[in-house]
Amino acid sequence: MSAATEAVCDLPEPGWPRRQDLRTWLGHLSTTGDLGIVRGTVDPQFEVAAYLSRLDGRSAAVFGSVAGSEIPLVGNAICGRSHVAAAMGCSVEETADRFAEAVERPRPCAPVDREQAPVFAERIAGDDPLGALPIPVHHEDDAGRYLSSAVVVARDPVNGATNLSINRLQVAGPARLRALILPGRLSSILAERERRGEPLDVAICLGVDPLLMLASQARPLQPVDELEVCSALRASPLPVTEAPTVDVTVPANAEIVIEGRVLPGQREQEGPFGEYPRTYGPAAPAPVIEVLAVWHRPSPVSQTILSAGREHFMLGAIPREADLTRALRRADRSVRRLRLTEGGSCRLHLVVALESPRPGRARHVLLNALAVNPVLKHVMAVDADVDIFSDEEVEWALATRVQAGRDVVVLPAMAGGSLDPSGTPDGRSDKMLVDATVPDADLAPYRRMRVPGRDEVDMVAIERAKPVDS
Ligand SMILES: Cc1cc2nc3c(=O)[nH]c(=O)nc-3n(C[C@H](O)[C@H](O)[C@H](O)COP(=O)(O)O)c2cc1C
Repeated sequence: MSAATEAVCDLPEPGWPRRQDLRTWLGHLSTTGDLGIVRGTVDPQFEVAAYLSRLDGRSAAVFGSVAGSEIPLVGNAICGRSHVAAAMGCSVEETADRFAEAVERPRPCAPVDREQAPVFAERIAGDDPLGALPIPVHHEDDAGRYLSSAVVVARDPVNGATNLSINRLQVAGPARLRALILPGRLSSILAERERRGEPLDVAICLGVDPLLMLASQARPLQPVDELEVCSALRASPLPVTEAPTVDVTVPANAEIVIEGRVLPGQREQEGPFGEYPRTYGPAAPAPVIEVLAVWHRPSPVSQTILSAGREHFMLGAIPREADLTRALRRADRSVRRLRLTEGGSCRLHLVVALESPRPGRARHVLLNALAVNPVLKHVMAVDADVDIFSDEEVEWALATRVQAGRDVVVLPAMAGGSLDPSGTPDGRSDKMLVDATVPDADLAPYRRMRVPGRDEVDMVAIERAKPVDS
């Protein structure tokens, strides 16, 4: 057994949710049978992604030995909605509300001295610090090796609050990364620094638990400190500490922290890279990060996220569902719950359950959803008796409650998601509203048939038939 493989066996630790970090999360997954250990050395070029793709939605994976690195790697740390709910300590149906509450009511973090912060225990020496990390290539046309789970931490120069975001980072040299930074808060923070001709200090965290990942995806209306959003999601306040070189506050229990600065005014070609629609995002000029130092916990583990895997979908889904739930409920009391479906990559398709909406209101709710989240493309309203977490139930509502000429509205050439390959090059997309609700007065022909006593029969009394010889 190699040293790296032995280290893997020690990785999952008990303690979730009393102590919440990646290791205790892996410990939790080990108790539910959702953690696989990949033995033997794997190739970072495609082989890591091949395992993650095969295990997607079923199991997290620890790669004890990735060729070219001494550091193990974790992927698929979130396999679906039940993992998000387990991490948040609530039911699947409660995740959106629970996340919205954390964004509305952030909680102060628990500062610790840097000397006590596990992540700053050791520094990778030498002038090729990125070379020590296991950094895979996932898809065949990806532009190269990418950090795909990197949580970029930056301080907002205007209000001092800490911003978190996940940005794909392409390795461009021993101490150089290229970052895709789409319009958002990080891009505004960077623009402000560049306006002043100054570099932007960043800390890049690898190896964090699902709650920190989720907090990085918050979409607050007003700027909030996203470390404090994470703190509010947790059982106890998030331990944080100050980075040694850059002016950034970081989670003290991350596995690895890369300190760096975004160089003002510099752009280099980045991409293509496999993205959430399961197609490639194009190459384009991107900001450049100079790496200053790489720190880690003793015997660290790094992390990767497979694009368009369940983890990518869930991290996008929950904060968007939280936003939409809050906004749609404010406007219409009939809104019960909603879901961004996995088939729509948890970005493009929304299904909303309504309780006895007034005639015509379903269309208002759906239009409002498009206004709140312009990336949405096909949006559907169903009655509250439809289980929106079941694709089969949603399709059944579409099959039995919709007449296209009556219930479908098409809105052409609106703003859409830039990564939808069917949209126009300037990012426009047609929208489709589908009203699958049935007015209360017309319910009779839609009544579901029922088998009386179905839930009472004794299933334990059923014997398995013995196999017959073929
Ligand atoms: C796995 C994953 C990868 C992502 N990659 C990127 C990326 O490369 N660039 C980007 O701008 N946003 C990316 N995002 C989305 C942002 O992290 C997210 O929208 C974040 O809230 C943006 O924060 P900001 O408004 O503070 O910039 C990614 C999200 C996930 C879950």
